Amino acid sequence: MDIQKEVKMEVEGEGKGEGRGEGEGRAIFEAMPEGIDPDRMVIGIYRIESDLPLQEAGRELAIEESIGTWTPLRTPQEWIRRDLAAKVFRWKGKHRGLVWVAFPLELFDIETGGIPNILSIVAGNLFGLGALKNVRLLDLEFPRELRKAFPGPRFGIEGIRSLLGTLQDRRPHLGTIIKPKVGLGPLETAKVAYEAALGGVDFIKDDETLVNQAFCRLEARVAKVMEALDKARSETGHRVLYALNVTSSPLRILELAERAKQNGANMLMVDVLTAGFSAIQALAEDASIRLPIHVHRTMHAAMTRNPRHGIAFLPIAKLVRLAGGDQLHSGTGAGKMERKMRETKEIVEFLRRPWLGFKPLFPVASGGIHPGIVPENLKALGTDIVINAGGGIHGHPLGTRAGAMAMRQAIDAFMASIALEDYARTNEELRIALETWGRRFGSGFGSGF
Ligand code: 3PG
Ligand code: 3PG
Ligand code: MG
Repeated sequence: MDIQKEVKMEVEGEGKGEGRGEGEGRAIFEAMPEGIDPDRMVIGIYRIESDLPLQEAGRELAIEESIGTWTPLRTPQEWIRRDLAAKVFRWKGKHRGLVWVAFPLELFDIETGGIPNILSIVAGNLFGLGALKNVRLLDLEFPRELRKAFPGPRFGIEGIRSLLGTLQDRRPHLGTIIKPKVGLGPLETAKVAYEAALGGVDFIKDDETLVNQAFCRLEARVAKVMEALDKARSETGHRVLYALNVTSSPLRILELAERAKQNGANMLMVDVLTAGFSAIQALAEDASIRLPIHVHRTMHAAMTRNPRHGIAFLPIAKLVRLAGGDQLHSGTGAGKMERKMRETKEIVEFLRRPWLGFKPLFPVASGGIHPGIVPENLKALGTDIVINAGGGIHGHPLGTRAGAMAMRQAIDAFMASIALEDYARTNEELRIALETWGRRFGSGFGSGF
């Protein structure tokens, strides 16, 4: 079963204790019907640490998040107990281990409550319950029924590849983040974008903190950048996507996106965890915007980094896919951010595989990437991916254009199975990048080969 495979990495080496077969767990209320119908349930898998026996700890969670509180109630509740109670149907471990909880579909207000309502249930008060020392949401599985309420990606990998003409060769897309992350004005941003485009990037994005600040107004920025990219296209014949960051309050996001589109935007970007999943859904469902959506995950580590508590990135990635993101930051094989390789691979694999009939999303590896570590990234994460570099392009000693060329050369070398050092003999930009940053992240200037 899908879910078991997805949590396997989390279970290994711990909590093997008293494993129970699926369905052997006790219903949280005697009145609950036995049996779990995956077509009528949202299933959450949690890793729990508690002084309570694990199944009881799971029951505390299930009661809190479905129909109960800390004490029996006097209010009428027969149908509520029967139809709305979440049920612990499996657990593995004694006081520390995995718990499977089935939440009946009727608990959710999918149509109007959307992802906020799902999260308030499957990832709500439970994280603060005193009875649980630590609790981590590892995975969520949704019934097909729920699919109808969400748009899913409009473009996905194939849609974006078709916009850029890379459906046949399937090479990785090269992206860049304009750096410095804030401070450049619209014209300066456009100049950097132009240089990057001439150097061979497929994709350019704003950094996650730049939206509509006084030094770089969004409308002027997108207008200038698109003008520069059109000019570059007339010289290279190659189209470049520019994801303009419209992360903003719910009252403003559609308006910003509309204004962006009027000024020529061909892609949008959202910081999903600061703006909320509904921000993506609003953009994806809007009938007139219809642009691919790049999703940045800034703040995710507040939830994902502590392996004993919080929310793993896999369920977050699933919600982004429901909401309609087209590209999602998934972590790197090597770079500046902390990572758990198995988890990153799992996420990348999830984004690309079929799921509920939604299109696959483009994984984006970003954060501290430079040419010397491109092979390590592609080897670890595969080539159906967007490889992003900010500093690794704009910090090249010969400037942005050469930096983008060096990144492209590193990708080309990998795709042709040629060692970077060999490729660098005839590609000066790559040679200089390798001399500057070496073959590891943080290996220092001038280490080279
Ligand atoms: C950045 O903004 O520097 C990074 O891309 C953040 O890392 P992530 O892509 O792993 O979320
Ligand atoms: C991003 O938003 O993806 C980044 O800011 C990555 O920048 P870097 O390549 O300079 O780390
Ligand atoms: Mg960034």
